[in-house]
Amino acid sequence: MRKPFIAGNWKMYKTVADAVSYVDQLTGLVADVTDVDVIAAPTFTALYAVAQAARGTRIQVSAQDLYWEREGAFTGEISGAMVREAGAAFVIIGHSERRTLFGETDVHVNRKAAAAFTAGLTPIVCIGETLAQREAGDTFEVLDGQIRTGLDGFTGDQVGQLVIAYEPVWAIGTGRNATPGQAAEAHGHIRTRVRQWFGGEPAERCRVIYGGSVKPDNARELITQPDVDGALVGGASLDPKAFAEIVARSRGRV
Ligand code: 13P
Repeated sequence: MRKPFIAGNWKMYKTVADAVSYVDQLTGLVADVTDVDVIAAPTFTALYAVAQAARGTRIQVSAQDLYWEREGAFTGEISGAMVREAGAAFVIIGHSERRTLFGETDVHVNRKAAAAFTAGLTPIVCIGETLAQREAGDTFEVLDGQIRTGLDGFTGDQVGQLVIAYEPVWAIGTGRNATPGQAAEAHGHIRTRVRQWFGGEPAERCRVIYGGSVKPDNARELITQPDVDGALVGGASLDPKAFAEIVARSRGRV
């Protein structure tokens, strides 16, 4: 059975002081949670402070991005090794905001995920279709392309360790979440492709989480769908109580 994985993507919110105070509050709220992986993904500037504050707690830390080179003249970029040194164990890759606002492609996602593995980080690879793609009936084709190129060249063992976040772009920050049926359908499709392209064992191990307007009141029905192993939470993760409530609603699955 896969352990549920609940990650809060803080995006470009919270100062260092806000971030540390959040961790202090969340620590108590999830102190007895051993059956769910609880992850916070702060901004780069708060990463080290959050990792320090989270030491010895149930909270694990993720970066929101990295650059694939190890070091060099890449102004403004941060490497996997730097993210790892700051205390992160995970890194979000290919979020739709990176793709839409910053021009990231599946090839970039592939390089970044490879760099994450090299640095000893677990990638959380984001995929998902836009509203236009869904309405045109292209959802599965889009997901297939993102998986095929994004995970190109990875071993079954690497894919088994991965977290894949299915985030339909039309559900992000809109208050319009996928129905449980839509989530189950997309997640089932993703796992089938992982099985076909990487093998049965990676498909059973790899966690596929849902993102897009997850809130305490819709979390349980989404997370209990077949093939849904957790959530990547944006807006609702900014409040430690709401986030802890989502964690609580994902329990009892292992
Ligand atoms: P919201 O939960 O705010 O819709 O954001 C989802 C998301 O983008 C998480 O990465």
